[in-house]
Amino acid sequence: RQPVDSPLYPLLEASAEYFRQALKQHPARRAAVDYLKGRGLTGVIARDFGLGFAPPGWDNLLKHLGGDSLQQKAMIDAGLLIENAENGKRYDRFRDRIMFPIRDSRGRVIAFGGRVLGDDKPKYLNSPETPVFHKGQELYGLYEARKYNRDLDEVLVVEGYMDVIALAQQGLRNAVATLGTATSEEHIKRLFRLVPNILFCFDGDMAGRKAAWRALEATLPNLQDGKRARFLFVPEGEDPDSLVRAEGEDAFRARMLQQAQPLADYFFQQLSEEADPRSLEGKAHLATLAAPLIEKIPGANLRALMRRRLGELTGLSGEAASEPASPRPPQP
Ligand code: UTP
Ligand code: MN
Ligand code: MN
Ligand code: MN
Ligand code: MN
Repeated sequence: RQPVDSPLYPLLEASAEYFRQALKQHPARRAAVDYLKGRGLTGVIARDFGLGFAPPGWDNLLKHLGGDSLQQKAMIDAGLLIENAENGKRYDRFRDRIMFPIRDSRGRVIAFGGRVLGDDKPKYLNSPETPVFHKGQELYGLYEARKYNRDLDEVLVVEGYMDVIALAQQGLRNAVATLGTATSEEHIKRLFRLVPNILFCFDGDMAGRKAAWRALEATLPNLQDGKRARFLFVPEGEDPDSLVRAEGEDAFRARMLQQAQPLADYFFQQLSEEADPRSLEGKAHLATLAAPLIEKIPGANLRALMRRRLGELTGLSGEAASEPASPRPPQP
């Protein structure tokens, strides 16, 4: 998946070190420090996640690391510098932002996310795809979570950098985030190799609810018996960061225990909203929607139980309800 060795790794690590130092020493650091404090973060968490600061200006990192032209080329490949296509001028990609280093499973820095201190757009700037960074495969915070606890039982999958970090700040050190991309089957496969339980906890808005269903779809083909996925829906307008900060660790853990919905429950509840099983037409529609999804589940026991549940909801026998729609014969 990733090159074993690449000249980009030391460049990315040196950049992370530069950003960390800038958060400690740069004359313009005050605004960044205040921003992080304002979001409830302490120095311990900033250190554990290697948070940094890209100072304002076009060439801070360029001057610090960009020795010769060859080195600058490598920095472009690493997504650290941008080259103006018209005049060939090179400049820092990340300027005046809080920097979140993204690490691979071995702890090597492979990319960055950078957040503006205010409300400018884009709010988060991420490294582009590079030879060492494939966005759709990585999970922010996974290295840090495993470093904290080698023997994880459950991971929380959230949307954002700040969700991961705010949860860690409150003592929930097992959150990971997809990086502005939908949860993929690849993500889930990786997680289920490490832990038996996944808890999805996305933002309380339309995007978050869509993300939850996408996550369910990515989970189904990975659901061996013994693996479990649940969904925790946060109140409208909240996200895990705002919620855990407002109510604290204990209340958040209580939510996880009391309100997390097993995948199968969420599945039937969601589909029943789309196809109301009170009418025969709704039952038929529900069976059409649910059956092909249920068949994706590799765990034979869960698959059988969900077929039976579908049968109960529709009145179709388990077998009939789950029959994947047969392709229509070709029309003359
Ligand atoms: P959100 O918009 O929910 O942001 O995007 P957030 O994480 O709650 O950010 P804060 O609390 O305002 O700091 C969720 C995630 O989507 C990606 C980031 O990974 C972000 O954490 N995203 C969002 C981007 O990559 N770019 C953006 O401009 C916005
Ligand atoms: Mn590759
Ligand atoms: Mn959001
Ligand atoms: Mn959010
Ligand atoms: Mn947020």
